This record gives sequence, structure tokens and C-alpha cells, in this order.
Amino acid sequence: MWGGRFAEGPSAIMREINASIPFDKALWRQDIAGSRAHISMLAKQGIVSEADAKTIDRGLEQIAAEYERGGVPEDWNLEDIHMTVEARLTEIIDSVAGRLHTARSRNDQVATDFRMWVRAANLRAIAGIDVLLEALVDRAEEHADSVMPGFTHLQTAQPVTLGHHLLAYFEMLMRDRSRFRDALTRMEECPLGSAALAGTGFDLDRNMTARELGFARPTRNSLDAVSDRDFALDYLMAASQCALHLSRLAEEFIIWASQPFGFVKLPDALSTGSSIMPQKRNPDAAELVRGHAGRVIGCTTALMITMKGLPLAYSKDMQNDKPPVFETAGLLDLSLAAMAGMVADSGFDVVRMRKAAEAGHATATDLADWLVRQADIPFREAHHITGTAVKLADEKGTALDELSLEDLKSIDSRIEQGVFDVLSVDASVAARTSYGGTAPVRVREQVTEARQRLVGEV
Ligand code: ARG
Repeated sequence: MWGGRFAEGPSAIMREINASIPFDKALWRQDIAGSRAHISMLAKQGIVSEADAKTIDRGLEQIAAEYERGGVPEDWNLEDIHMTVEARLTEIIDSVAGRLHTARSRNDQVATDFRMWVRAANLRAIAGIDVLLEALVDRAEEHADSVMPGFTHLQTAQPVTLGHHLLAYFEMLMRDRSRFRDALTRMEECPLGSAALAGTGFDLDRNMTARELGFARPTRNSLDAVSDRDFALDYLMAASQCALHLSRLAEEFIIWASQPFGFVKLPDALSTGSSIMPQKRNPDAAELVRGHAGRVIGCTTALMITMKGLPLAYSKDMQNDKPPVFETAGLLDLSLAAMAGMVADSGFDVVRMRKAAEAGHATATDLADWLVRQADIPFREAHHITGTAVKLADEKGTALDELSLEDLKSIDSRIEQGVFDVLSVDASVAARTSYGGTAPVRVREQVTEARQRLVGEV
């Protein structure tokens, strides 16, 4: 390719450090689509003849079919997917192939190909999130009144419903979905036609190629177009946040599935056995989702650091943009699928969850609230009285609602029989009817609204 200027070919080291074909062959579909759009535009503009354009288009079609069947041989001398396709085209149609690269550079070519790939990855992420969102809503509805302990500091705090807990993840993933959608709106501009960096003197129709490739319009600045990788970073950052949420959800399942908790039995299809301990049922899938989040965040950091020092326009550092994005997409798609399966198919032990909620004096706040409401005691004082009641229950080895009225009256004479109405875990969750609260009626309303939000009705 540089025969005109360089007398010797690249050294073996140069060839190896330069070659991106081992990974950027993943762009073959986008590369061929981009070339087909480009050549049909060149013909329409009278820059190449219709006959040559047709020959080139047929050749490209044949190469696509070859990739579909198993691939085109890789040669590191050809560096990347763009030159591999062009070299193969030359083998098929000879020197006519040389007209394809008119008014184009690999710089605008790769920026276009990669954007199209990342756009598809965004759409896949959104589709994967949708499946998980639906699973969360379904299970939340099923468990709208299944009581479990709610935690702060992983210490039993107040009873909540499992439906409410699952809907918390629904909220997180809705925000993730919105971040991917938002990222898509900034991927609507097509770099093709920016050429190497400065544009070209040929009379291109950039609107035509943009439209043909599914973009809304061409990019406005050729220097920016060939050196911008914000679209990849937008994807990676949305993916990082999503992976982070999936990791937190995975962690919940790991804790819930641990024997001392025993809240959940993971689906067989998403657990593994131990090679030595026959009783084991390990949450490997959840652990890997948690682990993958670290890799995704690492990929994001890698590309941010790659980009931070680059002057305009293209620099070869940018070739390193693809592996972290490809890696992230693989990890994210799998993590979403694994967590959707886990949410949909796990078996919750509602009896154990309720027992656990009853164990940690989780309704102490309800006692304090009762003292405020029924006996007009300031909350700070009510908090103190309740603390004494908790201490007494601990000394007697009973639950708060198993103390007798005499016991409670010995702590504060203003306590009446009616207090027992609020001390059960069911009463506790049923009382939390504030908007966004854990009460089953609120959870059911949120489920209804969630279904509408999923289809864009709210
Ligand atoms: N393989 C290169 C990349 O992915 C294509 C662009 C190369 N451009 C250049 N001027 N060397 O970044």
C-alpha cells in the first residue's frame, strides 16, 4: 500500500503492533455496508461510473457472503478490516476496486463503522434491559405483600415487601435504559465523507450516505468527526452504570441464597455444584455478574485514558477503542441475560423471609410512631422508650410484640393495648403508605405504573 514511498515492508514487530484485524474483523458488516453506501453515492454524484459502481457493489456483496460463510483469510500485512475488504475486492474485481476509496479515508471509514456497531450494541443493551425490567415487575407483583427484612448497614431495619425491594432495581434499570436511549440520540450523525480530517474536494452527497446508513444527518465538523469517540464512551459509561446496578442485584441474590439467610433458591440453570462438597449450590452466575462489573468499569477507564491526551485529529492510539467496547458489550449482554433469568426463575422462601423480618425487632419504629401518634409523645422521647422496650425484649428473649401489656406499661404507663395492632410485620408494612413506600397497596400501584412506563404510556 505504501509501495510508492517505503522501500522495505514493515518489520515483524511493526506488523504485529499495527494489526487490528484480529479484533476489528467484528466490524465486517458495518464496513461493507459503509462501502456500499459510499460507492452508490459516488456513482450518483458522477464521481465513478455506474458500471464501475455496480462491479464494486457486486464484489462487496460477494465478500459479505464469504464472511457470512466463515470469513476471509486474515493477513496482518493488511492491518485492519478496511484494508482486508479492499484487498479481497481487488482479488475479485481487479483494479476497479481502486475506485472505492475515492474521497474517503480509513479515518472517516472506521469512525462510521464503529458508530454503527456501537449503535447496535446500545439497542441490544436496551432490549436486554427490557427483558429484565419485565421480570422484575412480574416478580414484584407476585410478591407485593411478601414481607422481608429491610436493611440498612445490612442490619435489620424495618420490614419491607419483596415487591418493593425488586421495584427498587426496576427504577435503577429504567434509568440505565434512559441513559442508553440518550446515548443513541448523539449517535445520529454520520462521519462518512469527512475523509482523512479536512473533508474532500469531491462533490459528495453526505446526506445520502448518512440516510442510507441509518443516521439522521452528516457530522458538522470533519476534524471532530474523525477523532470523536464520545459515542463509544457514552455507551461504555451507560454500560458501567448498568453493570454496577446488575452487580448490586447479583450481590443481593448471593446474600439471599446463602444458608443463614435462605431467602431464595437460585434456579438450577444458573447455579453450579462443587467438585468436593456434594451439598453445595454455588451462585457462580451472580458472582460473575458482580465480577464482570469490574471489567466493564476497567474498559471504560481504559478508553477515557486513551482519549484524554489526543490532539486533533486521528491518532493511532484510537485503534485501541475497539477491544474495550467489544469486551464490554459481551459482558453486559450476558450479565443482563443472567440476571433476567435469576429474577424470573428463582424461588423465594416467603416463610423464612417473614421469620427473618420478625426476628430483628424490625417494628421498633412502629412502636415509636404509635407513641407519637396515640400518646402525643415527642419522637425523640418515643425513640428512647422504644429502646428500653427492645432491651427488655432482648433480656426476655422474645420479640417486641410478644412482650405483655404489663411489661410495656412498666416502661411507660401511656402504652395501651392498641399498640399491638402496629407491632406485627404485616401491620408495619401496611402502614407505610406514603408515596413510594413499601405498603402492598403502594407496591401494586407502582407495578401498574411500571407496566405503563415500560410501554411508554407514562
Ligand atoms: N485500523 C484503524 C483504526 O481502527 C483504522 C484507521 C487507520 N487510519 C490511519 N490513518 N492509520 O483506528
